[in-house]
Amino acid sequence: MGEKEQKGPGGVRYYRLSEIEGQNTFKSTWIIIHNKIYDVTRFLEEHPGGEEVLKEQGGGNATESFEDIGHSTDARELASSMVIGELHPDDRDKIAKPVETLVTTVKQETSWTNWLIPAVVAAIVTLIYRTYIAESN
Ligand code: HEM
Repeated sequence: MGEKEQKGPGGVRYYRLSEIEGQNTFKSTWIIIHNKIYDVTRFLEEHPGGEEVLKEQGGGNATESFEDIGHSTDARELASSMVIGELHPDDRDKIAKPVETLVTTVKQETSWTNWLIPAVVAAIVTLIYRTYIAESN
């Protein structure tokens, strides 16, 4: 594709998302954390959290899972020794946006029921209250 070996500032190796997604085989596992590419192939068996979790994230964005676990500074230092490059700047939106869009869509879909239910409850309460007031007068 003529896009191989792209370099960023400081000679950092840029990888396209398509190249990374291919690296999830029995031979090699790459993961993305904060737009950095980690080759965890040789680390799989040593990972205290198990090799399965790394393989699950293989070829994709593991940022959230990595942060959710709350990895120690030791773990972060260890991780930095496995960096092989960075995600190409043009591909960074691609791993971040779909998640945000999905969340927004879900929120939009539920938003009218979010106010509809309280509104209906409020209306019923008002009716009961009015009936009660009317009866006691
Ligand atoms: C280069 C990437 C990674 C490195 C170097 C790394 C390293 C480590 C280390 C050293 C620990 C021991 C606890 C600590 O020091 O914080 C650990 C625990 C753990 N890691 Fe990772 N990790 C990486 C990526 C991931 C990812 C992507 C996931 C999830 C998908 C994950 C899931 C876990 C879990 C669940 C534990 C907890 C194990 C336990 O407490 O029993 N790790 N990792």
